[in-house]
Amino acid sequence: SEVIGIIGAMDEEIELMLKEIKDSKTVVKAGISYHVGTIFDKSVVLCRSGIGKVNAAVTTQILHDSFGVSKVLFTGVAGAVHPDLNIGDIVISSECMQHDMDVTPLGYQKGIIPDQEVSSFPADAGLIALAEKSCRELNCHYEIGKVLSGDQFIASREVVASLRQEMDGACVEMEGAAVAQVCFMNNTPFVVIRSMSDRADGSAEVNYKEFTIEASQRSHAILAQMLQAL
Ligand code: ADE
Repeated sequence: SEVIGIIGAMDEEIELMLKEIKDSKTVVKAGISYHVGTIFDKSVVLCRSGIGKVNAAVTTQILHDSFGVSKVLFTGVAGAVHPDLNIGDIVISSECMQHDMDVTPLGYQKGIIPDQEVSSFPADAGLIALAEKSCRELNCHYEIGKVLSGDQFIASREVVASLRQEMDGACVEMEGAAVAQVCFMNNTPFVVIRSMSDRADGSAEVNYKEFTIEASQRSHAILAQMLQAL
């Protein structure tokens, strides 16, 4: 039967899930610990990818090759880009794109990967609907929108404005699009759930440090609600 892959980038983002996992054994591959067990009687593999797109890509491919996952859920925090999002609010990925993929000198739009049919990787409609239902049940303010990923911590109002205007982003983080691309390449449904720790502006550093634990808890709560219904 099906195995659900659950990824967070940092300890804060997976530690609550780690407390809920039952009968788990831990397998280490490429330096990443995979916790294999059950949560709410569902077979899961929970892991911390580490930060950035390369870590996220390797982690996600190993989830496919070594653990046979048939769905992937990502939980964590992000910087808000959509103007209606406040700290703590949730973004459910409609799709994910790399904002630092930039071949504009050759005439491509920002985020476009040349010679590839798809550059913005769509999340699974069923998982989006389930995430939305979970947000409603838990009374969380959410937006369904594009998750932008890059190997950069964004802390500039000007950059946020361009991520919104040029790339239609809802939030910015450092892993989602890598997870999404690998899932797309393996034909696996995924969704990214992110709670806002900051606004990716001049206050981002201070806000991130203050709100990451709280935001991680909110994202975890949505994921837990989803898992019960899966
Ligand atoms: N994760 C949380 N906040 C972020 C930001 N401002 N930039 C990139 N990743 C983030």
